[in-house]
Order: sequence, then structure tokens, then C-alpha cells
Amino acid sequence: MSGRVQIALAGAGLVGRWHADAILSMESEVALAAIVDPSPDGKAYADKVGVPWHGSLTELFGSERPDGVVVATPNQVHLENALECISVDCPVLIEKPIATSSDEAIQIVTAAREKRVPVLVGHHRRHNPIIRKAKSLIEEGRLGRITTVQSNCWLLKPEDYFSQAWRRAGGAGPVMVNAIHDLDLLRYLCGEVASVHAAASSAVRQFETEDTAAVLLVFESGALGTLSVSDTVASPWSWELTAGENSAYAATDQSCYLVGGTEASLSLPDARLWRHDGGGNWKDPIGFESQAVQKANPLAAQIRHFISVIEGEAEPLVSAEEGLNSLALAEAILQSAADGRAVTLESIPDPAASLA
Ligand SMILES: NC(=O)c1ccc[n+]([C@@H]2O[C@H](COP(=O)([O-])OP(=O)(O)OC[C@H]3O[C@@H](n4cnc5c(N)ncnc54)[C@H](O)[C@@H]3O)[C@@H](O)[C@H]2O)c1
Repeated sequence: MSGRVQIALAGAGLVGRWHADAILSMESEVALAAIVDPSPDGKAYADKVGVPWHGSLTELFGSERPDGVVVATPNQVHLENALECISVDCPVLIEKPIATSSDEAIQIVTAAREKRVPVLVGHHRRHNPIIRKAKSLIEEGRLGRITTVQSNCWLLKPEDYFSQAWRRAGGAGPVMVNAIHDLDLLRYLCGEVASVHAAASSAVRQFETEDTAAVLLVFESGALGTLSVSDTVASPWSWELTAGENSAYAATDQSCYLVGGTEASLSLPDARLWRHDGGGNWKDPIGFESQAVQKANPLAAQIRHFISVIEGEAEPLVSAEEGLNSLALAEAILQSAADGRAVTLESIPDPAASLA
């Protein structure tokens, strides 16, 4: 491919503008080809950053062919947007969740496989160097066998966050909006989940959707995990407030994930590897080794990865299948909480089966 990679952005709202900032910060590698957003704000933003504006993807593809599209539109139109990009063989990076349901996500997986078009899902935390480091420590066996993992996502959202009705409705609570990122990382670091047993509560806000959930995760490896999520808690223990990825939140020096292994344990995002002296046991002193990690903006790293995929140099780190599996896990948690029983992930449709 000659010249700079041309990436268009569909959906120039809050998150779309984060992507635009990342693209615009890498001007030697990539160009922001166009903004696609039917709203007056979208048009005004395109004028401000000085790129062509289109009211729809159909209009965009009618006049230009970017090398890739970032879709940061509302979840309800991810399916339609993704299928349109795939239909014209245009690689697409879709914000998370990949779609509103695993049934919709399967349609994206199926279309992408049939047309052999790369689809990436915006679980950008996997691109954070801290997570890359954690993944390599685990793969090198530095933790021994993973026995258990603890994930904490306790946030306090302001009341005006809920002024939009959809944020109070079922499926728009912290499991689908926040914990889906944690679940994607737990899958990435600890492997696939076999079953979940969850309870959810809306006792504080009394909305249709949950404000708090507690989850027991049984991994295929036999490891057990617990995940706690709430958007009603004043606390420093969430990825959002510990990782320093988003300047909208003042970063704390706390951790939100504990990964426990037979040789050592890892706290994240402070990347401390804890082990007993001499590889011993609880009778021996325990201390930590801080892992050296160079900080980097994961959204920029994700765009750089998208460029490599477009250029045929890499496979998607978070493919449509990965996005589907993380969505299916979040759905299983909500189903378990609603039914009051364990849900096995085998009950989630397998995209491979739909292609057979
Ligand atoms: N990665 C993350 O950490 C993260 C965080 C928050 C939200 N998200 C996801 O990002 C996506 C966008 O969320 P947001 O908070 O930016 O929403 P938003 O409402 O701020 O922005 C959405 C934009 O899409 C535009 N739009 C609507 N329909 C469109 C269409 N058919 N084509 C083109 N543009 C269209 C709207 O006009 C709006 O400007 C959602 O999928 C959300 O789940 C991701």
C-alpha cells in the first residue's frame, strides 16, 4: 500500500472523537479520510477538523473508498454499519460491544468470514502495554498455574449520566457498559469461561437495569474467578480509575485485578508480581517485583494495529469472534442473574455451527 492509510470515522460522538484524536496524532502513518455522522454536531466536527463529511456510510462509499472505517456509532446500528462495510470489502473496527446481542454478532462474524473482510472490535484495553505485559508473564509461566482471579469495577456515576432514558433501560447497566471490558480481559488472560453464576441488584438507583452485580466465573481450565461491578460505589478500584487511560478520570495508584497462580500472583494495572522468597510458601516472606511497562495510549496502539491488519501484516487481536464471545459472556451473566441459576456458555450459539 502506497501513501498514508486512509481511515474514515462513522459516529463522531464522545468515543468517535477519541479515535479521531488518535488518528490525527499519527499523521505520518494515517489520514482521517472522512467523518460519517448524520447529526449537525457531526457535520460541524468534520468542518472543524477539515475533512469531508457524509450523512451515511452509503454516501461515503458512493464517493470514496477509504482503506478502513472505525465505527463508533450507537450499539443499535453496529450491525447495519458493519454489514455495509463488509459488503464493500472495507476492513472495519467496531466499538464495543460488537452488537446489541450475540445473534446480531453472529451475523457480523458470518458476513466477515464469507467475504474474508477483517473485522476488529474496540476492546482497546488489550492494546494497553500493561495488559500485553501481563499476557506474556502468564504465557511464560511466571505465575505457575492460574488458580483464581478477582476483578473489581466499582464506580460512582453522576446522576446526570442517567438523564438519557436508554441508560436506565435493561441491558444498559454496568455489566454491558463497563464490565464487558473486564470480561474481555479475563478471557484474554485466563482463557474461556465455561459457566457463570450471577446475582444483580438495582436496589440503589431502582432503575430497570442493574446498578450492581456479583459474578462467579468457572473457567474451562478449572480456575475460578469473581467479578464485582457497581456504578453506585465511591471507590478507587476500577480499571477506569487505576489505569490512567482516560484523562477524564483522575488516576489512583490502586489495583483492580488480582490474578492468582501457584508460583506467583499479579496485581494490575500496577503490574506487581508477588512471590514468596526462594519460591517458597506462606511461611516465607513475600515481596513484589514491579514489572517495567512503558505507558502508551491504547487507542493509538489500536489504530496502529488496525493499520497493520489493513496492510495484511497482522491478524485482528480482537476479532469479531472475540467480540462475540465477550458479548455472549456478558449476556450469560445477565441471564444467570435474571434466572437465579448457573448458565453454561455452551448454551450460547456457536458461529462456526451457523456456517456449517
Ligand atoms: N471503548 C470504550 O471504552 C467505550 C466507552 C464508551 C462507549 N463506547 C462505545 O462507543 C460507541 C459510541 O458511544 P458514544 O458514547 O460515543 O455515543 P455518542 O452518542 O456520543 O456518539 C454516537 C455518534 O454516532 C452518530 N450516529 C448515529 N447513527 C449513526 C449512523 N447510522 N452513522 C453514523 N453516525 C451515526 C451520532 O450522531 C453520534 O454523533 C458505542 O458503541 C459505545 O458502546 C466505548
